[in-house]
Amino acid sequence: MGSDRSDLPESLCLVGFMGSGKSTVGRLLAERLQWTFIDLDDRIETEAGKSVSEIFAEDGERAFREIETRIGREVVGREHTVLATGGGWGAVPGRVAELPATVATIWLQVSPELAVDRIRRQAPVRPLLSGTSDPLSEARKLLDKRRPQYEAAGLHVNTSGREVTEVVSEILKHIRSGHRTRPS
Ligand code: S3P
Repeated sequence: MGSDRSDLPESLCLVGFMGSGKSTVGRLLAERLQWTFIDLDDRIETEAGKSVSEIFAEDGERAFREIETRIGREVVGREHTVLATGGGWGAVPGRVAELPATVATIWLQVSPELAVDRIRRQAPVRPLLSGTSDPLSEARKLLDKRRPQYEAAGLHVNTSGREVTEVVSEILKHIRSGHRTRPS
């Protein structure tokens, strides 16, 4: 029937900039696949006992990145799991490219303009953009720097102007058709 589950990868990993919809898309994808959903930032907050912005403010970005790296390593690639990472996780050089082929990596693309607009209207506070007087130019700079790392993902999906259900359908169609969305 074209949806042979044996074609599916073992797990999905969503990467991309803040405001690209990784958590929302990931939750719905997991529901559709009847897989487990893991949000990396939620895991970090649970373990730290405080919010991401509190970690940044009280312990610094470096401490946050250390926890993110450690917990990310624990959860990435878990079987039948959709992992929504934070925007900085997939921005580390080599991290996406070096994942095993059993992990299908998906870059949710968003323009800096739309990202800033979504972030302004949505929780949680993003410490990297909230502390600047010009979030748009900061987002542009950050995205330019991160793009080469996000590009290593096996599937690139544009989220601009699209409903969550549309983005999820595109990803499901792609992985069910046997495209293994792995880094090339
Ligand atoms: C960050 C993105 C955030 C969160 C933290 C740092 C980043 O996650 O991990 O504020 O470096 O891009 P989202 O991408 O879910 O907003």
